[in-house]
Order: sequence, then structure tokens, then C-alpha cells
Amino acid sequence: MNRRQFLKTAAVAGAGLLILPSGTRAGKNAPGAKLNIAMIGTWGRAEAHFGVVSNENVVALCDVNEQHLAGAAKRYPNAKTYVDWRKCLDQKDIDAVMVCTPDHTHAFITNWAINRGMHVYCEKPVANTVEEARVVRANYLKNKDKIATQVGTQRHELDNFNRVQELIRDGAIGELSDAYAWGDRQIRRAGYLPAKGEPPSYLNYDLWIGPSPMHPYNPDYFSGGSGMNCLSWNMYWDFGSGQVGDMGSHTMDLVWNAIEAGLPTSAEAKGEPFNPDVTPVTLEMHFSVPGNNWRPPMRVGWYQGGAMPNSPRKYVDLRKIDHGAMFKGSKGFLVCDFDTRILLPLGSSADMTYLKPRTKENLLRPVGNFQTEWVKACKGDLKTSCDFEYAGNMIEMMLLGLVAYRAGKKLDYDGVAGKVTNDEAANALLTRKYRPGWTLNG
Ligand SMILES: NC(=O)c1ccc[n+]([C@@H]2O[C@H](COP(=O)([O-])OP(=O)(O)OC[C@H]3O[C@@H](n4cnc5c(N)ncnc54)[C@H](O)[C@@H]3O)[C@@H](O)[C@H]2O)c1
Repeated sequence: MNRRQFLKTAAVAGAGLLILPSGTRAGKNAPGAKLNIAMIGTWGRAEAHFGVVSNENVVALCDVNEQHLAGAAKRYPNAKTYVDWRKCLDQKDIDAVMVCTPDHTHAFITNWAINRGMHVYCEKPVANTVEEARVVRANYLKNKDKIATQVGTQRHELDNFNRVQELIRDGAIGELSDAYAWGDRQIRRAGYLPAKGEPPSYLNYDLWIGPSPMHPYNPDYFSGGSGMNCLSWNMYWDFGSGQVGDMGSHTMDLVWNAIEAGLPTSAEAKGEPFNPDVTPVTLEMHFSVPGNNWRPPMRVGWYQGGAMPNSPRKYVDLRKIDHGAMFKGSKGFLVCDFDTRILLPLGSSADMTYLKPRTKENLLRPVGNFQTEWVKACKGDLKTSCDFEYAGNMIEMMLLGLVAYRAGKKLDYDGVAGKVTNDEAANALLTRKYRPGWTLNG
């Protein structure tokens, strides 16, 4: 039994004081049923997780920015510090990793951590290409009975996610045919930033670039405030996927949680003209997703940067919802944002008599604090709301939409093989080139 299995067994048994079996990897600070956590990326989004991880043992900190690293080290003085996540993941007593780095490193760090038997919480979007999403998911599925994973779409804890799912599954709008999600964040850039100055001494710029092709330093990649700096780099293809992976991860989650979908069978997209440096701002993507045991095959759409689905009625102004979703069924529409929802029954059959409201006891179980759900899962049943299968499928679909946008045609997709079947050239767009020395699945 290794340390992780022991923590799990002990937590299930409800044991209070634990003595670790010899040969297991103990945390430096204390035994007890605490996780030994490594934080990779220690500023910005990472700060949103400090509250939860402070109840555990933070044993390792890694950041390419040595000022950010020093700030976190003050908070967690017993943690070992690193600037290179590959070295950090060699530390033997780590049980679990939180990844809060830029998107182009997510799948790398996540795969390496899973391959070393660690539980992983990775900020959204967890992958920057279809292939990355697939490798992360495959590694997770191989280790599903040993590790807990969560993609950082923490809005998923909001009660409205459950309420929307219940209404859709209980047939409030009849048989589902379409779902749409949209976001109106618009950050326009012309191209990669020109070289400007030298990286400051505290920034390991080459490690920041990591697996991506080299681009010259420019301080504007680092000019955002804490938790917002992702908006300084995530629109560039080599560092992110723009709003597809940014707000798309959160908002499509409203849909994904309700429709219980697998990988799409086709994808098509249109948007502003292709820019080889920058992901499109105005874009819409359409997918066919297979049916399941409670609904037929259906269409899923994503709209961003001003593109919007049509409103079901003139008096419903969808543009007033900056990030929202809509479901269309045989008996009407459901429109929602993260916190609220409205039902719009249509037609004479939609008198709502067919809908039996749930009793309080039959409501879906609240997720509770989203990060805590993962911590508990690491010590318990390994189950989380947004594991790398659920969220991996969703981001694979979204990233496939960007491939269809680049291919400029409707793509048929074999989700089992991970192949576009009607355009051989589009398969090259499922992946991206890495700098020598960086291994995705190391
Ligand atoms: N869930 C949410 O609501 C939410 C909100 C904001 C950001 N995010 C996600 O969090 C991630 C980080 O966003 P951010 O705005 O904090 O970005 P950021 O640019 O501020 O980077 C976060 C930290 O990671 C460090 N870092 C960069 N590259 C690293 C590397 N290779 N190894 C170790 N540390 C590295 C940076 O120095 C910084 O301290 C993004 O993927 C973003 O999508 C999620």
C-alpha cells in the first residue's frame, strides 16, 4: 500500500490519527489524513486555492517567476521550491498536484503528474489541442481507480448547474434537439508581441515558454493583475485557445453537465479570417453529438465575440447575458446563466402538466466547495464532478471546433480513433509542434 492508497483507506475508515506504514511517503509537516500537495504556478489563479490547500500539507511550490515563488514560500515556509515543474514532480512525498500555470503547459504537467501516480487538480482548460485532451483523458482512465482529478471549472459548484440538469433530464422542455453556449469576452490582438527589453532576472522566461515555439520576451505578456494575467497570453495559439478554452470551459460546462454527451461525430465553424498568431475573437462552432439512453442525437453550438444564437422570442434579449446557455426541446426553451434560469414553454402541448417538480429530497446533491470536493475525493472515493473524462471530452469537442475553423469545412470525427475521417490534412491540426526536449507524456 502506498501513501496515497493509505490516505484513502484511512479516510474511508474514518480514522482520526494515522501512523503511516513504513516505506510510504510521509509529508514533512505532519502525518494525519492530510494530503501532501505541490502547487505548480503559485500566483494568480493559484491564490484562489490557497484557502483549501492550507488545510493540507503544501510540500512543494513551483513557479518560473521567482518573486511569485518567494511570495508563496512565505506562506508555506516548509515547502521545497522549484522553477522547473519537471524537477518538482521528482519530489517523492507529493500526493497531489494543483496546476495553475498557463494553458500551454497544462497537459504536460498533468500527464507527468498522473504518470507518477499523483492526484491532479488542473485549472481549465487542461489541454491546448485535441491530442493533448486525449492523452490526458487516456492517462486518467488508466489510473481512474487510483487517482482523483478535477478541471478547475469551479462555477460547477453553483446550484444552478444542478437545477438546469434536473429540468432538462425531467423533460421540462420536451425532447432535446439543440444546446447553445456563448460568451462575449472580446480581446483583440494583432499578432505575437514584438521583442521588447530583456526578461527580468527573477523570470525564467525559457521555462515560461516551455514546450511552445520560442517567441521574444515582451513585458505585456505579464502585465495583468493576479488571476487576470491569463488575458495577456491566452489568445495566442502557442499559449492558449482564446475564449474557447477560457470562458468556453466554464460556459459549455453548463450545457455539458445537462446533456450527458460523448465526443462529437462532426464539427464545423466559422469566424473572422484566420490569423496564424492569434485565435479568432468572433467565432461560432457547431457539433453533432451522439444520442444516449434518455435523448436522441443533438446539436451543440458555441458562440463567442459577438456571434450569438437566435433568440426564441423577440422579448428575450440573449445579448443581455454575457456568458450563458440555451437549450431547445420539442416543448420549449430553457435559457440560463451561471446562477439563474428561465423556462419558455412553446406551443399548445407545453402546458407543463407533464413536468412533475422534484421534491427537496430528490434534488441532485450539492457539489459543495469545488476544490474541497477534489481534496475529499483524493482521500476517499476518487469521485469528482469535473474529472478528466468529463472535462476532457468537453474540451476535446471545443478544440476540435477550432480545428474545423482552421480547416474551413465541416469535419466528420471518429472520437474512438481521434481522427478526422473526411479531411486527412485536418488531422495535422489536432496536435501542435513542441520544442525539442519537451515530452507531452513523460
Ligand atoms: N477557474 C477560473 O475561474 C480561472 C480564472 C483565472 C485563470 N484561470 C486559469 O488559470 C491558469 C493561470 O492563469 P493566471 O491568470 O493565474 O496566469 P498567470 O500568467 O498569472 O500565471 C500563473 C502563475 O503561473 C506561473 N507560471 C507560468 N508558467 C509556469 C511554468 N511553466 N511553471 C510554473 N509556473 C509557471 C506564473 O509565473 C504565475 O505565477 C490559466 O490556465 C487560466 O486559464 C482559471
